[in-house]
Amino acid sequence: MLYGILADIHANLEAALVVKNFLQQMGVEKILVLGDTVGYGVNPIECIELFESNGTTFIKGNHEEALLTGKYTGFNTEARISMNWTKKNVPERYLQKISSWKETMEMDDFVICHGGLNDPLYFYTNTRTKAKKMFDEFQFNYCFVGHTHFPMAFSLKKEETLPAIIAEEADGRIRLVISTEKRFILNVGSVGQPRDGNPEACCAIYDTKSRIFELHRIPYPVEVTSKKIIDAGLPSSLAARISRGL
Ligand SMILES: [Fe+2]
Repeated sequence: MLYGILADIHANLEAALVVKNFLQQMGVEKILVLGDTVGYGVNPIECIELFESNGTTFIKGNHEEALLTGKYTGFNTEARISMNWTKKNVPERYLQKISSWKETMEMDDFVICHGGLNDPLYFYTNTRTKAKKMFDEFQFNYCFVGHTHFPMAFSLKKEETLPAIIAEEADGRIRLVISTEKRFILNVGSVGQPRDGNPEACCAIYDTKSRIFELHRIPYPVEVTSKKIIDAGLPSSLAARISRGL
């Protein structure tokens, strides 16, 4: 199976469109969206519909949880303002749909969630120590996550005490073979709001046959998305950050 794996679309339709086209061109058979499809951007419904039409599997992120429950755990001012906007602009029938999204799922021989298995909606798997905690406390071969908006992978051999970090290359990509000798945590970055200094949309392709995991970066018309954010009356900082990839 050829999987397209992505996270943190954040209602950015322009980034979502280029990613979907790219995955289709690459012959991806099944798409997995690892949470935060909504929030920050102005096209939450369109982003859900864009991928839903393909039989995509959606996982719940902390922004979906905030939309459903009204609890803005860990949200800064911009996130709160944009979530208030999202609440006003997402009709009830979409909330019912979103409430059916699971927090974790097992697929083939891997697991998916938004943040990390320790606390699926909120855990930031962004340091070797936190990755270690997840490796120690949960049984899994490899796990795909998002949430940090920062593409990165961790691998752990049986005899190792601390996991190794596999960072993206200078071109913003990661390519590695998911060896059965190791365990992995693979962060697929963010489609709609990358924070690694590269504004290009990020997505991953994983081939269960070759076991090759590849992270790709795809440019999109970020100025169109920024203008929509400003025109909707959302904070200009949200428009500026997607231009810089921060
Ligand atoms: Fe996010």
